[in-house]
Amino acid sequence: MTVRTRKPYIAGNWKMNLDRSKSLDLVKTVKGRIGDGSGREVAFFVPSIYLADVSAVAQGSPLGVGGQNMWHEDHGAYTGELAPRMLREVGADRVLVGHSERRHVFKEPEEWMSRKLRAALDSDLQPIFCIGEKLEERKSKRTDRVLKKQLESGFAHVKPEDAHRISIAYEPVWAIGTGETATLEQVDLAHATIRKWLTSKVGEEAETVRILYGGSVNPDNAKDIMALESVDGLLVGGASLQAETFLPIIEYDA
Ligand code: 13P
Repeated sequence: MTVRTRKPYIAGNWKMNLDRSKSLDLVKTVKGRIGDGSGREVAFFVPSIYLADVSAVAQGSPLGVGGQNMWHEDHGAYTGELAPRMLREVGADRVLVGHSERRHVFKEPEEWMSRKLRAALDSDLQPIFCIGEKLEERKSKRTDRVLKKQLESGFAHVKPEDAHRISIAYEPVWAIGTGETATLEQVDLAHATIRKWLTSKVGEEAETVRILYGGSVNPDNAKDIMALESVDGLLVGGASLQAETFLPIIEYDA
């Protein structure tokens, strides 16, 4: 049996899906099923336009609500962007930083990540910092190198005492939305690389950082992935959009 020192963290990233009414229904259902939240942490990363409404419904429950992205400045001429304080103002307590789709579809450069991570911490938003290799990088055996580089640049302004507020999601790009999950061995090795790098960076504080897996997680594979001692949680895309698929993932050990 896996002995856990870190609280399991099951997060749903809705991306640009659902509508207002379906979002609120889903939040109501999940909120009613997670109890007092002592056994695990559950959160949704929500399109920003629905954050205020979703937060209002989630209020009074341990369900976390977060933004999917943000800009690192506090205000200014950044058309279309959101400041961390704006996310906070509409009830978000967390945010994704460096999601694969931000990096690869919207071409956000690597050097933005450390500023965003710093800004999230400074604004008291709990970040999930997302990293992961592309298929060609895995095929050419560069996975470790890519992960370390992403960690190195993202953590440039992180101090050891900040570490416990950060979670990391390992999301191999080729496993996102493809139905192809990384094998348990691939997940375990990547998470070990991340944990080792963290220890070299922040020392024993590394033990406080949760490392999540993301990429085609579903009710059938969640239990096995969570059984790995190196996995502290899951970041779920498609399967987080419906209670029928997300609840069994939250209750992976039922
Ligand atoms: P899928 O679960 O749809 O593969 O998405 C994973 C993801 O990108 C979560 O952030």
